[in-house]
Parts: sequence; structure tokens; C-alpha cells
Amino acid sequence: MTGTASNLQIVRTVKDLRQVVSSWRADGLTAGLVPTMGALHEGHFSLAERSVADNDRTCATLFVNPKQFGPNEDFDVYPRDEAGDAAALAERGVELLFAPGVEEMYPEGSTTVVTVPGIGDILEGACRPGFFTGVATVVSKLLVQSLPDKAYFGEKDYQQLCVIQRMTADLDIPVEIIGCPIIREADGLALSSRNAYLSDTERAIAPALNAALVHVVEALNAGMDVAAAEAEAARQILDAGFASIDYITARHPETLEPVTDFSGGARVLGAAWLGKTRLIDNIGVE
Ligand code: PAJ
Repeated sequence: MTGTASNLQIVRTVKDLRQVVSSWRADGLTAGLVPTMGALHEGHFSLAERSVADNDRTCATLFVNPKQFGPNEDFDVYPRDEAGDAAALAERGVELLFAPGVEEMYPEGSTTVVTVPGIGDILEGACRPGFFTGVATVVSKLLVQSLPDKAYFGEKDYQQLCVIQRMTADLDIPVEIIGCPIIREADGLALSSRNAYLSDTERAIAPALNAALVHVVEALNAGMDVAAAEAEAARQILDAGFASIDYITARHPETLEPVTDFSGGARVLGAAWLGKTRLIDNIGVE
């Protein structure tokens, strides 16, 4: 055991993580897991609070996972503040923080990866090759390392949630995956650790992504053709000052395949570049 912040115990090895969570379960206590890459904000805290409410004990994890960053992505500059994150988690009633180093998660010689073909290949998977293999590999390891009753993920990363549901079911990992709603700023911008990269001017433009997704939902509800609604939203985002769009698309809420019939609901997902920052967001259609 390597440290404490008030009632929060910090562990850095898989052995210590296992020992603490299995001792909780041996005492008949339920355990929730909240995986994160740190630089925590109210979006992350909403997951921690939900886990604290649902379970007797909560373990958060903090690991900036190199396997889910592409060679030209922001691994080196990704915001890091372990002390601040630990203090904030302690305040919210989290009992354990697993904050391993890269060597602990991927010891020399480790080669196995988890890939989720199909739902992991489209949208984010197509724009960021290897991203979901990195996510599925690290999340499957975290679930197997800790074996909680439940694990909590945000709808902010809606496709990630779908990929993790698929992976957990396919590998018979005995953990219930819980999706939690998106926490937003008052102007609609979804909270994200990457919002810290935005200049003041970009920050003022950023809510246009959410506004355009809301526009797609309204247009679909008003009976507009899907392609026309998507194209209108894309134009709105570019007009607002975004540099380019990776996708704005209405999809089936579980398979994320394209849909034309919305009787079973849909999810409208968007990814766009604001300067050098890539923002994603999504919204449900009833
Ligand atoms: P990270 O981006 O730190 O996010 C950790 C969790 O917080 C994810 O489940 C994410 O969906 C959720 N989250 C982030 N912003 C949110 C918001 N505004 N509202 C609600 N939930 C929000 O996602 C990852 O880390 C990593 O890929 C991880 C799953 C930890 C694997 O490395």
C-alpha cells in the first residue's frame, strides 16, 4: 500500500487492488468500479457519486492508457493531476484509488490485446485506428483485476460504452456495466478533460456541436430526411467556426449501424475539430 488521502487508500499494484476489493467482497460488501484517465471533472464525479450511492465500496482507477492514443495524439500532454483527483474522489466518498504505472499495467513481454470487431471498427474506431482495442484491452484488464459487482461508464463516450458492453458480454466477465448520463456546462458543452485545450475563442464556439446535434433530433422529430438533417447540422458546425467534421450521424442506439426507421429510437453522434482539439458529443432520440 503506498499512500492515503483522508479515507482514500491509493494502491499502485494489481496485487494490492485485488487484495482490497476481494476483502470487501469477502466481508459481504458490494463494490463499484469507476475507470478514468484522471484530470477529473463533474462528469467523472457523477459516475463516482452513482457508484458510491449504489455500492458499499467504490474503487476509482486513474491510468492514462498509452494503448488508446494514436502516434499523433495527445498522450504526452494529456492533463495529469493525481493529488487533486485523489482529494476530490475522497470528498465524494470513494474508498480506493488504483493508480498504476505503465509497467504495472503492461509488464515487459505482455502482448495480448482485446479487439471488438464490428461496433469497434466504425465511427470513432474508423477515425482513430486502434483506439477501441486500447480501450477494450485496458478495461477488460481493470475488470478482471478488480472483479467489482458493477462498473460505471459515461454516455459522453457513447460508442465506448457500447463497445465495453459487447466486450464484457462476449468474454463472460461477471461485472454489470452501468451507463450514466452526460454532464454538460450550462451552454450545452459536454464536460471533457480535453476542454482544457480550448482557447477562450474556441470555448465560445464549442457549444455549437451540441446545438447541431439537438438540431438533428428536432429535424428528425419534425419528419426531415436523415441525410438532409445531418447535412444541415454539419453546415451549422462549420459556420460556427469548427475547422472540420469527422462525422455527424444518426444511428441505431445499440448497434450504431445507420438507421432510417426511428421507431426504436436512435442516437445522434458527432465528432468535429475545433482548431487542434477534437470534440465528441451525442444525444438520444426518443
Ligand atoms: P476518461 O475520458 O477519463 O473518462 C472516464 C469516464 O468518465 C468515461 O466513462 C467517460 O464516459 C466518463 N465521462 C467523461 N466526461 C463525462 C461527462 N461529461 N458526463 C458523463 N460522463 C463523462 O473514457 C476514458 O477515460 C477511458 O477511455 C477509460 C474508459 C478510462 C479507459 O482508459
